[in-house]
Amino acid sequence: MSNIDALSNKSAYYINLEDQFGAHNYHPLPVVLERGEGVFLYDVDGKRYYDFLSGYSAVNQGHCHPAIVDAFISQAKKLTLTSRAFHNNLLGEYEKYITEYFGYDKVLPMNTGVEAGETAIKLARRWAYSKKMVEENKAVILFAEGNFWGRTLAAISSSTDPSSYSKFGPFMPGFEIIPYNNVEALETSLKNPNVAAFMVEPIQGEAGVLVPDEGYLQKVKELCKKYNVLFIADEIQTGLCRTGKMLACDHEDARPDILILGKALSGGTMPVSAVLCDNEIMMNIKPGEHGSTYGGNPLACAVAIKSLQVLKDEKMADNAEAMGLLLRKGLSEIKSPIIKTVRGKGLLNAIVITHPNPDAAWELCLEMRNNGLLAKPTHGDKIRFAPPLVITEEQINECVKIIEKSLTILA
Ligand SMILES: Cc1ncc(COP(=O)(O)O)c(C=O)c1O
Repeated sequence: MSNIDALSNKSAYYINLEDQFGAHNYHPLPVVLERGEGVFLYDVDGKRYYDFLSGYSAVNQGHCHPAIVDAFISQAKKLTLTSRAFHNNLLGEYEKYITEYFGYDKVLPMNTGVEAGETAIKLARRWAYSKKMVEENKAVILFAEGNFWGRTLAAISSSTDPSSYSKFGPFMPGFEIIPYNNVEALETSLKNPNVAAFMVEPIQGEAGVLVPDEGYLQKVKELCKKYNVLFIADEIQTGLCRTGKMLACDHEDARPDILILGKALSGGTMPVSAVLCDNEIMMNIKPGEHGSTYGGNPLACAVAIKSLQVLKDEKMADNAEAMGLLLRKGLSEIKSPIIKTVRGKGLLNAIVITHPNPDAAWELCLEMRNNGLLAKPTHGDKIRFAPPLVITEEQINECVKIIEKSLTILA
């Protein structure tokens, strides 16, 4: 690949190692990183980049946030894992902290985002059989077209992206796909009495930062209530201040029945996810019916408490809101026919590229890398711009200039 040729010997060495010994299930941008601090990443040759992906929004608090890393290190020296066979002195403290923080009766701690999604679906199915009196094995979960919630067999069973599901079947039964941002279609499907839940991203991240119409989430909430169906909000990418509020659902005061969080719950230090809901839903699961060896481990608890504290202490929602406005304004003012659309909320943004070259978005990302900014295309023609929420006004302005300059490669 010509772009690898352009890299230093050191970078090429690491890329070749991955190529030779790792599965080829990703197509990374050719850059080899070894250090991160705040909004910046540094490669193995010491070159500095703005991080405009933030580990898919796992690093909202900025790379290696000192308070989070301190919490991590001091807990790592004390106790990291007990399993849930025994109690530990941090799990209850964390459970109290996070349930009060988000206003739910209970939390179920897991590790990755996809596990939180699986857990939410299990909770919804169990609730449907125990409370809604759906006949066993008949429960239906609704998902929106273009959804993304991970790569497990259940997650790909709800996917509408052939590169996610092709040749991995057979798939999970009891899932139904409806169009996103379409309340009429939702209401039609909700009329089926076997529907247990509608699981939806308040903004579809992987699909290319698709922001639904204003009022959609409020309507989803209202319709779910009307038909006695659980509203599950997948806030794994949109939550934790990313869109300018603590939760993207907060923009419309649409409190989900089940809230799933992950990614930035640990500030990018380790996999920590959480499922929050009230007793009516959570208490249908009894000992031995769900769990995870690492879920709720003391290291994760210490790190999650600190990661949540930092979001509030440093007013990251407000900064995401203000810097997002500035970024979208700056991008909209770039006079380039190549940018078809600029969209997003807070610091979850995307541009859509229009260019005869089908690899234009990739080429642009390579050029931005050359100019010191890292971003990655999603679904061909879209590029997500989602820097850590600690970014400043001056830095946003510099980044807009980098993007503008890089666009000339496609002219
Ligand atoms: C909205 C959403 N849900 C769930 C997930 C899955 O999270 P994880 O990769 O931690 O399993 C992702 C990952 O990108 C996501 O964007």
